[in-house]
Amino acid sequence: MKIGILTSGGDCPGLNAVIRGAVLKGIKIHDQEFVGFLDGWRGVVDGDIIDLPRTSVRGISKQGGTILGTSRTNPFEGPNGGPEKIKATMDRLGIDAIIAIGGEGTLAAAQRLTDAGLNIVGVPKTVDNDLDATDYTFGFDTAVQIATEAIDRLRTTGESHHRCMVAEVMGRHVGWIALHSGMAAGAHAILIPENPQSLDQIAEWVTHARDRGRAPLVVVAEGFVTTDMESPHSERGLDAFGRPRLGGIGELLAPEIEARTGIETRATVLGHIQRGGVPTAYDRVLATRLGMAAIDSVIDGLWGTMVALHGTDIVHVGFEKALDNLKTVPQRRYDEASILFG
Ligand code: F6P
Repeated sequence: MKIGILTSGGDCPGLNAVIRGAVLKGIKIHDQEFVGFLDGWRGVVDGDIIDLPRTSVRGISKQGGTILGTSRTNPFEGPNGGPEKIKATMDRLGIDAIIAIGGEGTLAAAQRLTDAGLNIVGVPKTVDNDLDATDYTFGFDTAVQIATEAIDRLRTTGESHHRCMVAEVMGRHVGWIALHSGMAAGAHAILIPENPQSLDQIAEWVTHARDRGRAPLVVVAEGFVTTDMESPHSERGLDAFGRPRLGGIGELLAPEIEARTGIETRATVLGHIQRGGVPTAYDRVLATRLGMAAIDSVIDGLWGTMVALHGTDIVHVGFEKALDNLKTVPQRRYDEASILFG
């Protein structure tokens, strides 16, 4: 069989380890042939591929980013998009199956294409860790590690100046990165999309911390809304899937906190730094295992399924399981963390 691999959507530390795991097991154990689609679904739609022999994946599991490139291309759009055209392109290139590594947008597209008869299996990917049906996504651990290191640095400068520091982290729909990095760094308030808070409540936590002689630290996820906001702060238009590009809530909160508390306040947006660079050992191992399991899905013809982590086991679940629900931070996890606020 000739198998095409693609990485689509926002990149994520560990993508290369998935590619390596799939290619190595596919060649060593199952004697398969691999190609890579360049730039996600764009490569599928345009038939833009490169060969992926064993030598091409040598030593790449420690590399950030993706050797295949990525994009937010929608495979149903454009003159060569849609299932019939894509099937014709795959037939022309002699490709029998696709391993799609991506988040909710990618897997939703993969599900629609599978329903139309294409042979696709998925590997879940997102730093946000917001996909249901898998306990963790690779890339999340690295993002939390990077965010924690950055927030630790913000803390020392905040302490020198007796300032309140606001650190904005990624998290479009869910607050996993904020919860974990905030807890690790000892934040005095963690603000997540699942739990809107009033500006007065945030100011109260900040004031308490200052009154105890601390430089207050607030960690906020980009998708957080105050109780006065109707939707997350967005000032950079829409992405290719029509979703608002988020970012900037920290800058919005800082002057409000300063006005309410009288404490000089600075905001820092960590942004894409959280997605770049070397994956942690945990993410490399998880990604490698998922890549190897994805090949088993292809060999067994488990089209329309993705590999997932359940406890310490890798399992196969239907795309719909991943897409039905977002994996939000449970209330009990937020309540537990908030004992330490203020
Ligand atoms: O979905 C992962 C994510 O990192 C979100 O947290 C963020 O909103 C988005 O991607 C950013 O996307 P882009 O790289 O297109 O700016």
